[in-house]
Amino acid sequence: MAQTLACLRGWNVPLAQAECRALLPAAIFEPISARMLLTKEQQLNLLTTSLACASGIQCFLQDVQLVDLADNSLEDLLEKVNTVLQRFPNRGSLAVRYLRISGRINGISTKMIAGEIGSIAVSHGFTIDLNNPNYEIGLIADASANIVACGWLVGDFDDSIGTAPRRATERPFFKPISLDPRLARLAVNLACGPVDDHAVLDPMTGTGGFVMEATTMGRHCLAIDMNSAMVEGAQQNVTWALNGQNTESNYQIMVGDACNLVDSVPKNWHGRFSGVVLDPPYGRNSHGTDNHLALIENTIRSARTVVMNQAKLVLIIPIKPSENDNSDVQLLHGDWTSFVDMMEQSGATIIDRWQEHVHGSLSRLILLATIAPLD
Ligand SMILES: C[S@@+](CC[C@H](N)C(=O)[O-])C[C@H]1O[C@@H](n2cnc3c(N)ncnc32)[C@H](O)[C@@H]1O
Repeated sequence: MAQTLACLRGWNVPLAQAECRALLPAAIFEPISARMLLTKEQQLNLLTTSLACASGIQCFLQDVQLVDLADNSLEDLLEKVNTVLQRFPNRGSLAVRYLRISGRINGISTKMIAGEIGSIAVSHGFTIDLNNPNYEIGLIADASANIVACGWLVGDFDDSIGTAPRRATERPFFKPISLDPRLARLAVNLACGPVDDHAVLDPMTGTGGFVMEATTMGRHCLAIDMNSAMVEGAQQNVTWALNGQNTESNYQIMVGDACNLVDSVPKNWHGRFSGVVLDPPYGRNSHGTDNHLALIENTIRSARTVVMNQAKLVLIIPIKPSENDNSDVQLLHGDWTSFVDMMEQSGATIIDRWQEHVHGSLSRLILLATIAPLD
């Protein structure tokens, strides 16, 4: 059966794999190397809508043909591509784009293979047009796994776009607390899955990092902060990020208390949240205590009064960097065992966790959990 390959961006591959599973929940992804994932056949419209909102996914290759150079030769790949092009029902102009991952594969010129694929296409009646082609073929050579893959390209290999224009320092309202938009976008996608009619709740919005990402991908979003200066600043940032863009998004940013969401959240939003994204403050907290665990616990309990069934929570907290994701977590504030107990007590069930490097002595833990609504 024809297969689809997802090509992930390199800034955090495990998180990007999780995002891929969240945005395409019906697909069964099988990792084949650090950067790529294979899946069963996917409809094109699902791939393009997922790409439009993804943070960690670069592009997809459809009808993908793949060779592991440990067992096969490039001739095997060209033979497979030949069959795909021969059987393709349409003809027209075509371009072959190529991408090298983790440097060069010894003795292989990606450009030359692209040229050979172009020649095969011409022999089957296609013409070559690099500027405005009807079809694009993507060729990926991954030196970390010695794998070469080729298929119809959905998206592109240009990694210079995406969330970069919304970098924290570019925004009208900036504070050092602002989240990197790549991580903010990915967190929203992990919490909510494919874009739909449900909403995302950001109970401690700060400068509005999550709301900017949610609204620019057309999600509904309610954002709250105790501090009215943050609410004004976040509103300014979202207006700037949307830049007159006409999205389907219905959003609201308001003053309120994350520990009392049943009263802070307007009634018309109750029961609409499929995901909660939480980036709590550290240092002395808003309720005048240093008890971070209590602030998180109260926020989760309170979120359960307004979320829908099977809602997910993505929580971002500072940790000390560790070598691998499976080792015990060293929180910057408090100990891991008490933290896990607190999550259980507050009604959150941890599903998975990942690390994102910040600098030598600081990482972020990105934690995914389910939270059950309170009756
Ligand atoms: C770490 S910042 C969030 C940063 C945000 N993700 C961003 O991209 O800018 C935490 C925010 O939580 C707010 N906050 C703290 N306690 C709160 C509470 N009980 N209810 C609502 N907001 C609260 C603070 O005012 C602060 O703006």
